[in-house]
Amino acid sequence: MDRLSLYWKNATADAVGDKHGVTEKELKQIAPQIKDITKKMSDDRKAGKMKYRDLPYDEDMIEAVHREVEHFRDRCEVLLVLGIGGSALGNIALQNSLNPFTYNLMSDRTRPGPQVFVLDNVDPDQIKSIVEYVTPRIKRTIVNVVSKSGETAETASQFILFRDLLQSKLGKKYTENILATTDATGGTLREICNAEQYRTLEVPDGVGGRFSVLSAVGLFSAAMSGIDVDALLLGAAEMDKRCKDGDITKNPAALLASIHHILNNKGKIMSVMMPYSTSLYYLADWYRQLWAESLGKQFDLAGKKEVFAGQTPIKALGTTDQHSQVQLYREGPNDKLITFLEVEKFAQKLAIPSSMKHVKALDYLANSNFQTLINSEKLATEYALLESKRPTLTVLFPSISPEAVGQFLMLYEIAVSYFGSLMGINTYDQPAVQLGKDATYALMGKPGYDDLNKKIQAAVAKRDKKYMI
Ligand code: PA5
Repeated sequence: MDRLSLYWKNATADAVGDKHGVTEKELKQIAPQIKDITKKMSDDRKAGKMKYRDLPYDEDMIEAVHREVEHFRDRCEVLLVLGIGGSALGNIALQNSLNPFTYNLMSDRTRPGPQVFVLDNVDPDQIKSIVEYVTPRIKRTIVNVVSKSGETAETASQFILFRDLLQSKLGKKYTENILATTDATGGTLREICNAEQYRTLEVPDGVGGRFSVLSAVGLFSAAMSGIDVDALLLGAAEMDKRCKDGDITKNPAALLASIHHILNNKGKIMSVMMPYSTSLYYLADWYRQLWAESLGKQFDLAGKKEVFAGQTPIKALGTTDQHSQVQLYREGPNDKLITFLEVEKFAQKLAIPSSMKHVKALDYLANSNFQTLINSEKLATEYALLESKRPTLTVLFPSISPEAVGQFLMLYEIAVSYFGSLMGINTYDQPAVQLGKDATYALMGKPGYDDLNKKIQAAVAKRDKKYMI
């Protein structure tokens, strides 16, 4: 298998100076901590506490996913995935990185699976447009509702809508067009599944939403659309093995986390992920949730000391954002660590025709190709940032393949575990998300939230005209 690699020279002090880069001394200092964390991770894993790392080896789960794909594939023209956050971002990342840009526009004959729409918002206009699209195709529309709890307002409301649509058009048989991915035993959605007898897949126990892409949560829609999920998991397993080493120089996730940690402490409080590939852009979206929810914490691990930890993840797209963001990245505050995702070999080189060779200003493009152009632009940006003493990392994809994407996902999941441990926070909870969920319940009139509703009305709901212009 072609390996993903991490190029980190331009994040070192040798490249950008002591103030902005990682020094050898700092890496040596952190190495014993990495050794200890690695040992603890291994112990935690044996105690069943790092289940996300075991997903690539979970044969029952993989078999269940293939079983459901077998069941649904031939009678599915449109697959609707309903989910949000960790129940959607992995699906979106896999679809975009491993299926062609025009996948949904391909004819039924040439497309390797159904059209796939992941609805991860409650925008009424967007939802209505999907309702209108699927209504004439409703018999061959499968709804995969993904929710561990079943109570998340966004997913629950969408589910009610599409369940009603299925029921009104298909009568009693509507349940045959639903696959629920949810908690194995508990939760509201599991109760509904039991009552209405849907087919189900499991959200694995002990795996948080943002670590669930390599479970049935992300794999079902991927496999339905023809993505080789076995290869994806092989890639993830390969990375998992590489990241067991307690030696910082041999463990890419540990090294990646250490660089982030050291530079975060040197004021690089923003972390930009900038793929030079449109397909990989949504991996950066997935990464934003992983980094933000895992690391943004008020308290230390003991829950006593306020630490306000975190590193703000930002997504950017190369080359597009060279014309939008790079001015800021070079001349604005030196508070960013920029990670490029580079593809060594695109599926297509795609020649640039030489028909404009006679135009002097454009003749350099003649007989070149788009792969050379995009990778030259990446190198150009790396150089420009280096000139401004801005630290950068590059994750090199040998090609965009399921194996490479699997390696990437596991690399960043393990890296965030190391980073959270280095920061001394709880990487796996997200206590600050709850208040927004509760406030939504209150505003939508859910019983038991009256007091909260009153507080919201007093604080924000009534607009103060003094501040309206
Ligand atoms: O990472 C997380 O835990 C969250 O993003 C959840 O996945 C998200 O809130 C959806 O939750 P649920 O799957 O219960 O609907």
